[in-house]
Amino acid sequence: MGATDAQLPIIRLDGRDALGAFALSTEARWNQNEADWQFFLTRGVVFGVRDHDGRLIATAALLPYTESEAWISMVLVTENRRRRGVATRLVDACLEAARRRGLTTWLDATPAGAMVYGPLGFAPTIELRRLRLERAASPAPCPALVEGNLGELITRDISAMGFDRRDFLPEVAGRPGSRLLSTRDAMALVRDGRTARHIGPVFADNPDSALALVTAIVASEGEAHLIDAVAIHAGFLDGLMRAGWTIERPFQRMRFGNASQATLEHPFAVAGPEFG
Ligand SMILES: CC(C)(COP(=O)(O)OP(=O)(O)OC[C@H]1O[C@@H](n2cnc3c(N)ncnc32)[C@H](O)[C@@H]1OP(=O)(O)O)[C@@H](O)C(=O)NCCC(=O)NCCS
Repeated sequence: MGATDAQLPIIRLDGRDALGAFALSTEARWNQNEADWQFFLTRGVVFGVRDHDGRLIATAALLPYTESEAWISMVLVTENRRRRGVATRLVDACLEAARRRGLTTWLDATPAGAMVYGPLGFAPTIELRRLRLERAASPAPCPALVEGNLGELITRDISAMGFDRRDFLPEVAGRPGSRLLSTRDAMALVRDGRTARHIGPVFADNPDSALALVTAIVASEGEAHLIDAVAIHAGFLDGLMRAGWTIERPFQRMRFGNASQATLEHPFAVAGPEFG
């Protein structure tokens, strides 16, 4: 079985594979929905492996953001085909596609993923913590929320990422169910996910403002939420946990190649490990 898996060809996926790919991220209990997969399959380069019956058993996506920077994500191998080198071959295919286009690649790794990417040459950068809140504990005093400004979000995102995601942020902000919200000194994007609403990116002038914004968002929605907080903001993380959020898992941001531009600020939370 192992030998035959190593010979299964790597193929390029398209929009027709959205359901098969969604089945893989659902099996891994990830939060991506079909809109996320449609985005990867239409805007990115998604590689996959099918078994002998034509069933999709693994994926990896390269999402070029600019002419110099790309994100790798959706590295998934169905449970009973793991530890046979499939993920390594798929990430190699992404890296080769990136190399041909002259792209530096980034990703946010789960602990299992980091075991695959480290040996391939990815170097760690910042750490993230994925937190979940089932429901806001009790009504807390919250600042008023107003509709955020997309141009400001894009500008702030560039200073945090070091590159421009103006093709990505408007698409996500424009989805049904998405909200771009701000207070006087903080802003955040909120979108639908398979099991929970996702908050991020979050930009703020200080930890208290970031926390107040997130508190106001969850109080206004009354559903389960996920957030991928940047670990360096210890006060923000502590505040989330005091408000009832629990850490689900760490993510390690990693980069292959040189950063083309220095970042000027750390966001309080990122857009999600699949998008950076
Ligand atoms: C992480 C994942 C993609 C790895 O897929 P895979 O096809 O099993 O990976 P590979 O066979 O290419 O592994 C290559 C090497 O990485 C390391 N590795 C992979 N998975 C590991 C694990 N769970 N624990 C420890 N080491 C691991 C091993 O050194 C392995 O080589 P070996 O099997 O010869 O010891 C798969 O476990 C998965 O889909 N997990 C759930 C989703 C996920 O976490 N994806 C990563 C997102 S960043």
